[in-house]
Amino acid sequence: MSAAPREPRTVVVTGASAGIGTEVARRLAADGDRVHLAARRLDRLEEHVAAIRAAGGTAFAHACDIADGESTRALFHAVVERDGRVDALVNTAAVLWLNDFATLAEADWEAMLATNLGGAIRVTQQALAHMLPRDAGHVVHLTSTAADLGLPGLAVYSATKAGVRQLLAALRGEYGKRGVRFTEIQIGNTADTEGGGQALRPIDAGAIGHILRWTGAPEMMKPADVAAAVAWALSTPTSVRLDRIVMRERAEIPT
Ligand SMILES: NC(=O)c1ccc[n+]([C@@H]2O[C@H](COP(=O)([O-])OP(=O)(O)OC[C@H]3O[C@@H](n4cnc5c(N)ncnc54)[C@H](OP(=O)(O)O)[C@@H]3O)[C@@H](O)[C@H]2O)c1
Repeated sequence: MSAAPREPRTVVVTGASAGIGTEVARRLAADGDRVHLAARRLDRLEEHVAAIRAAGGTAFAHACDIADGESTRALFHAVVERDGRVDALVNTAAVLWLNDFATLAEADWEAMLATNLGGAIRVTQQALAHMLPRDAGHVVHLTSTAADLGLPGLAVYSATKAGVRQLLAALRGEYGKRGVRFTEIQIGNTADTEGGGQALRPIDAGAIGHILRWTGAPEMMKPADVAAAVAWALSTPTSVRLDRIVMRERAEIPT
């Protein structure tokens, strides 16, 4: 039995110029949503939007730096000006540098804080500004295995992802009764993204040994696997509180 047709949702996907964010945008557009792709590289976003439109979907590109308040406000302003609403936010934007904590450059850890945690706060505040007046909305953030475990070589990254977890936990208490849902999708190593490439930058031998235990799995997850989880999360009835999905490659060491 096929599902009844539903109204297209307006969904903002951050980090949509690459990796998992691009796949999430494609998947939601294929499912019939109006998808607003946001990231700093507009040229990449425009390529993805063109591909989505060519496949019959509805998508728009927005240059946005979520580490910047004005840029983030402008993103949501543009979305609401076009669609009049924000039904869901999927925040996938993040940066990471794998490095020995003691020598991690201040500019690098500050960028991780400003984007991964500060950016998560900024986009969530902006989304809520449009969701709370309608008593409806779904806020989804991608976190990482690192949020629970605190991975060597990724100390600050781990802290930012743990911060996002707690942000969502607190917001469930604060706004759950107002009809807004907050979901964390916590994922393990996922292939075919730029993040993996960044992680191969400066290396501490001890840290990389540990990380390779995780990245050496024969069958890493794919961005499409994560996109399917996002699509499912958004499709659950609004009466369902969906706090957290945890996804790992099957061969990852159990914890
Ligand atoms: N891949 C994995 O193995 C893995 C594992 C665990 C968790 N995760 C999490 O999953 C999410 C997606 O990861 P990924 O590997 O697909 O990432 P990715 O390929 O590195 O892409 C990151 C995206 O974030 C955007 N971005 C970075 N800084 C930004 C900023 N200041 N403002 C707006 N956009 C920004 C980038 O676009 P621009 O450069 O164009 O701005 C890009 O679109 C991240 O939250 C990551 O922490 C990934």
